Amino acid sequence: MFTLKKLLTASAVSASLVIGLSAVVQAQSLGIPINESQLQDFDLIAQPDGSGYPQGSGTAMQGKAIFERRCVACHGMTGEGTSANTRLVGGDMQSEERPIRTVGSYWPHASTLFDYVQRAMPADAPKSLTSDEVYQVIAYVLNLNGIIEDSLILNKETLMQVEMPNKDGFIDSSQAL
Ligand code: HEC
Repeated sequence: MFTLKKLLTASAVSASLVIGLSAVVQAQSLGIPINESQLQDFDLIAQPDGSGYPQGSGTAMQGKAIFERRCVACHGMTGEGTSANTRLVGGDMQSEERPIRTVGSYWPHASTLFDYVQRAMPADAPKSLTSDEVYQVIAYVLNLNGIIEDSLILNKETLMQVEMPNKDGFIDSSQAL
């Protein structure tokens, strides 16, 4: 049976091991300073006010091919998804039951779509799309939702003008206090 003393000794040993190990890890992994261009790979915030968008453009017609190659495995051929989390199209915020939230029914700003896809999608290879490809593929997602025409050239300027169906569905409480 474990006595208290043994237990204390055992945890003292493991505690000192942990301290020892973390000292080694710290000493060995201080890392190297990142340069400006590497920093830009992390600086990806695209905001509703138009700041933070990269150069680039594309249409839904171009985005269809990207979607079919890079997105359908998890989001289905027409964005219907393979689960509630991966459904991108349709939905209904007025449902009596549980509202179905998708890009089309829920998201108030198209900038969120740009930001999210640029940062996190495709989930199996985030940040692997070029800026043009991000514009193209989100144009396709917006088109699947019936929000823009398939020939609209989406770029920094036109993206800002896209009106999302649920744009008035949120209460701005940022000035509440
Ligand atoms: C390997 C699977 C996978 C691939 C490939 C993938 N996604 Fe996703 N995607 C996901 C998952 C899982 C979620 C849900 C994440 C969550 O809820 O946190 C998601 C969420 C999203 C969302 C947010 C949906 C919402 O309403 O919250 C968008 C938009 C999106 N993906 C776009 C894309 C696009 C565009 C592509 C192709 C360039 C893509 N995804 C490729 C797995 C994938």
